Amino acid sequence: MIIQNICVLGAGLMGHGIAQVCAQAGYRVALRDIDSLVLEEGMRAIEKNLARDVEKGRKSGDEMSAIMNRITPTLDLKLAAAHADLVVEVVIEVMDAKKALFEELDTIVPPPCLFFTNTSGLSITEMAATTRRPDRFIGTHFFNPVPVMRLIEIVKGQETSDETLGTAKQWGASLGKEVIVVNEAPAFAVNRILCPMLNEAFYALESGIASPEDIDKGMVLGCNHPMGPLALADLIGLETLLRVMEGLHQELGDKYRPAPLLRKLVRAGRFGKKTGKGVFDYTEL
Ligand code: CAA
Repeated sequence: MIIQNICVLGAGLMGHGIAQVCAQAGYRVALRDIDSLVLEEGMRAIEKNLARDVEKGRKSGDEMSAIMNRITPTLDLKLAAAHADLVVEVVIEVMDAKKALFEELDTIVPPPCLFFTNTSGLSITEMAATTRRPDRFIGTHFFNPVPVMRLIEIVKGQETSDETLGTAKQWGASLGKEVIVVNEAPAFAVNRILCPMLNEAFYALESGIASPEDIDKGMVLGCNHPMGPLALADLIGLETLLRVMEGLHQELGDKYRPAPLLRKLVRAGRFGKKTGKGVFDYTEL
């Protein structure tokens, strides 16, 4: 299948990153959000990332302009999706919101169009079942920050066809990413292992085992992780981590119970870097 036009739904942290890597690979991208502020911020973040590449001599100014020109920001779902060969959904990590969107999309977008979802751990099969194209539906899980991280975890739902899997793998390679293929399971492969480790760091912190700085320093210097678990949780977003842990807890039991401190920080609106405060304070940066 030839893919030229991509519709990315959601211009937040992951959505604008996905739009950027698609446009860099030469695809025409419609980037849609329901919130004009989020859309503007997403476009600004793409521009900033590309400007850094130009500054560092990795891209020319002309290449940057061409990439920006391939992205059309819009608030209009029909306009964004009507001519898409491929839709990548990157909206809020809530099953009912994703299902409602796919149900609507199914009536707007002609049947050959593929549906990809960038969920951190929700069931691909459940989302796909709300559409008339579960065979053309697959999970494509990117990692934050999208332009830097090399992996896409491709997640097959119960009805995903081999053809859709093949197209998703080719598309991932065309973006310059490595892919792994994972059968559907709660939080898939990477988050199944990563998120309980991050959650454990919150248990360690609330038990007074060490300061946040020392917990992070321990994992950076003792395990060669590029950043500590608490700083990484702040980068991902504490609310996203909590949602993944709640899903694991619900599906797999008590071993995965979210740390009370994680829940408390989310209740306080401390979502991490994006809100200025999480475990650490970013307001001075
Ligand atoms: N967008 C684009 N580029 C970015 C970026 C961003 N948000 N953040 C950093 N970069 C770039 C920088 O520009 C820099 O590039 P150059 O050197 O070429 O200019 C490069 O990445 C390195 O950045 P820094 O020098 O600022 O800092 P660093 O060397 O400490 O790297 C990091 C930062 C890439 C985030 C690194 O610490 C890292 O890899 N951390 C782990 C990230 C990780 O584990 N991500 C997965 C999270 S899990 C997830 O996303 C899945 C989920 O569903 C929850």
